[in-house]
Amino acid sequence: MSELNRAKLEQLIKIEEQLFHKTHLKSYELYQRAHKSLPGGVPMLWMVRWPGSFPVFVKEARGAHFTDVDGNDYIDFCLGDTGAMTGHAPEATVRAITEQVQNGLTLMLPYEDVIWVGEELQRRFGLPYWQFALTATDANRFALRMARLITGRPKILVFNYCYHGSVDETLITLDEEGTPMSRANNMGPQIDPLYTSKVIEFNDVAALETALSARDVAALLAEPVMTNIGIIHPDPGYHEALRELTRRYGTYLIIDETHTICTGPGGYTASFGLQPDFMTLGKPLAGGVPAAVYGFTEEVSKAFTEKLALDDADVGGIGGTLAGNALSIAAMKATLQNVLTEEFYFKAIKLQEKFTEGVECVIEEFGLPWIVKRLGNRSEYWFRPTPPKNGGEAHAAVDPELDRYMHLFALNRGILMTPFHNMALISPETTQADVDYHTKVFREAVISLFS
Ligand SMILES: Cc1ncc(COP(=O)(O)O)c(C=O)c1O
Repeated sequence: MSELNRAKLEQLIKIEEQLFHKTHLKSYELYQRAHKSLPGGVPMLWMVRWPGSFPVFVKEARGAHFTDVDGNDYIDFCLGDTGAMTGHAPEATVRAITEQVQNGLTLMLPYEDVIWVGEELQRRFGLPYWQFALTATDANRFALRMARLITGRPKILVFNYCYHGSVDETLITLDEEGTPMSRANNMGPQIDPLYTSKVIEFNDVAALETALSARDVAALLAEPVMTNIGIIHPDPGYHEALRELTRRYGTYLIIDETHTICTGPGGYTASFGLQPDFMTLGKPLAGGVPAAVYGFTEEVSKAFTEKLALDDADVGGIGGTLAGNALSIAAMKATLQNVLTEEFYFKAIKLQEKFTEGVECVIEEFGLPWIVKRLGNRSEYWFRPTPPKNGGEAHAAVDPELDRYMHLFALNRGILMTPFHNMALISPETTQADVDYHTKVFREAVISLFS
């Protein structure tokens, strides 16, 4: 295997940029127009972070595919960064939404269906009590507030290079010397996260004990497998240590299943028998309709109720007028009942194994120092020979140029991967042919780099 030639990579990126421009003329035109009313030409700033010098404007999306305004068709392995893991416009969800639209959308009062959803969440995740929000960010925020209220402790603990949405307290990382710092580009924090938060590396039990032993940490907010700086699995025994130490030092354990719901119908929590105090989840829960939930134990519920001044509950920092609205609930019920089923996971995980095998075969064929990691129906390739153990190691392995090239090469050939890394999700509509096509395009990208 030859070394990656950086000058060649630069040249190849230029060629792909030109091809992208030529085949996305209408998107470019819309992008120019969008600039006049939307900063960066996009409704959300991170949408400029795609490969290609401007974003692709979507025309329509169905199942595992979408088409853009230029008529290009794509296999979507990004699936709205998990928000559309259900496939785009899943039939059962669309039917439920269409019906609900005619029966009122939001009242600040419950409809009966919300009880079905609460009971289903109980059944899947094993936690007895549930509340609703519109985004996973908010679900995390509210769980953290509850934990601080109950414990009276000021701090929270997170892992280096975690992502839990735009939750202020989580935007903290370790620098190269291992000293905590406000995360790069943390925009206008209301308070420096050094005051609110502690941060340690994933898989480091000694650091965990040190962080907790001061008994000032209300909650550890954790993905059970890190997914936002690549997929990083826990070492054997790590979750047992997390649970034992958080209990020993009186810190609540909040497991964020927003991405790890790719593991199975009850997330990583049910698949691996975790026992969190809180669980949070958003994104695919309602087939792409904004909806999120947070669940908690009997003990949390009791302690929270004792501290709660119900008369002020509407202005206490846990809120959202539209949370638990009828549309989200109808979409959640239909999605849980018909889309995110046992059968879906069984099929999707099998297909993801094929995806992983395809990439592994190419890596082996060309003797590349790369790997591919999988969690349920999610997988990701890394441009390093061994799996990173923590966020710091993973961050150091990021290769922005190579990432950009692999993404753009795929995009120009009708494949959308998850941005910011090389992640792929399988939806209920993704086929073996889609997976085989990805393997073929991945191989062509490798040939273009190393031949
Ligand atoms: C693990 C995790 N939690 C929470 C969130 C926040 O989700 P949202 O942006 O939908 O609020 C994300 C977003 O990527 C996430 O990856």
